[in-house]
Amino acid sequence: MLNKINELLNKVKECVEKASSSTDVNDLRVRFLGKSGEYTGLLRGLKDVPPAERGTIGKLINDGKIRLENMLAEKEAAFRAKEEERKLKAEKIDVTLSKGYKIGSTHPITKVKNEILDTFIGLGFAVKEGPEIETDYYNFQTLGIPADHPARDMQDTFYISENILLRTHTSPMQSRTMLSQKPPIRIVVPGKVYRADDDATHSPIFNLIEGLCVEEGISLAHLKNMLEIFAKSTFNQDTKVRFRPSYFPFTEPSVEVDISCSMCGGKGCRLCKGTGWIEILGAGIVNPVVLENCGIDSKKYSGFAFGFGIDRIAMLKYGIPDIRLMYENDVNFLKQYK
Ligand code: PHE
Repeated sequence: MLNKINELLNKVKECVEKASSSTDVNDLRVRFLGKSGEYTGLLRGLKDVPPAERGTIGKLINDGKIRLENMLAEKEAAFRAKEEERKLKAEKIDVTLSKGYKIGSTHPITKVKNEILDTFIGLGFAVKEGPEIETDYYNFQTLGIPADHPARDMQDTFYISENILLRTHTSPMQSRTMLSQKPPIRIVVPGKVYRADDDATHSPIFNLIEGLCVEEGISLAHLKNMLEIFAKSTFNQDTKVRFRPSYFPFTEPSVEVDISCSMCGGKGCRLCKGTGWIEILGAGIVNPVVLENCGIDSKKYSGFAFGFGIDRIAMLKYGIPDIRLMYENDVNFLKQYK
């Protein structure tokens, strides 16, 4: 029996030396130590050993087994380390290699939005964002549009339930801010808004920027000056701004704001339909009713508010003829605005 043990141990040793991979080592483990393995067979032979010697022989077999296991484990670990190293080398990724990859660019709407926000930040405005799913209360009621008011028809609304809707403008953030913050207030609110409207110049989802300034002594003159700065920095330094009377429930007086045509400079062309002017936004002096609804003393404070579609500004700036082009994400269209 003793000879058999030593013989097998030597045999394993020889095989292990010849092994060339961790898989080989594993095969050897099965071959010698598996359920019907050659070495395991020794234990089975123990029953033929005279009872008096069984204890000693048994211990020898077990000691041998431990030596064998160690031998295999050692060899396996050595192979694994080598294999790991080989794998790491083969799978190396060169993160500096960017040749041949197409690099994305900022979407024209995002680009125009960032430029415009930059201008307003420079004028002391803070950027605020709010929920796209709004309550009737913030979207309409606080802004001077109670239930059944005819002005509700000005914005074709997507209702989720009787009192919950997809915001039709970002003005609800004006009331949310006035309700939570004391004047002076200067905010611009960019964001997606929703209206049941769909043609070449209207999309059911579009992007709006609204602004609100509430301080002591604010007048239309402040609004006009500020919009002039905005128009000049968004289009060009020669851009002129004019006001026309209009109506919004949340401003009084309300104005429609035109800029001199960005294509012909005011001479008259196809874009401005020969008038030299292009309508770009709605604005006005915040209706005192709105200030009072939001807990602000309308005798002490006044404010101006304005709102315009970023999509429309991007169309004018880049001469994009159809608003839908900006939502299709056709790479050939988008890469022109790199
Ligand atoms: N909320 C208006 C709209 O979405 C825009 C606007 C804002 C007009 C503030 C006047 C004052 O059409």
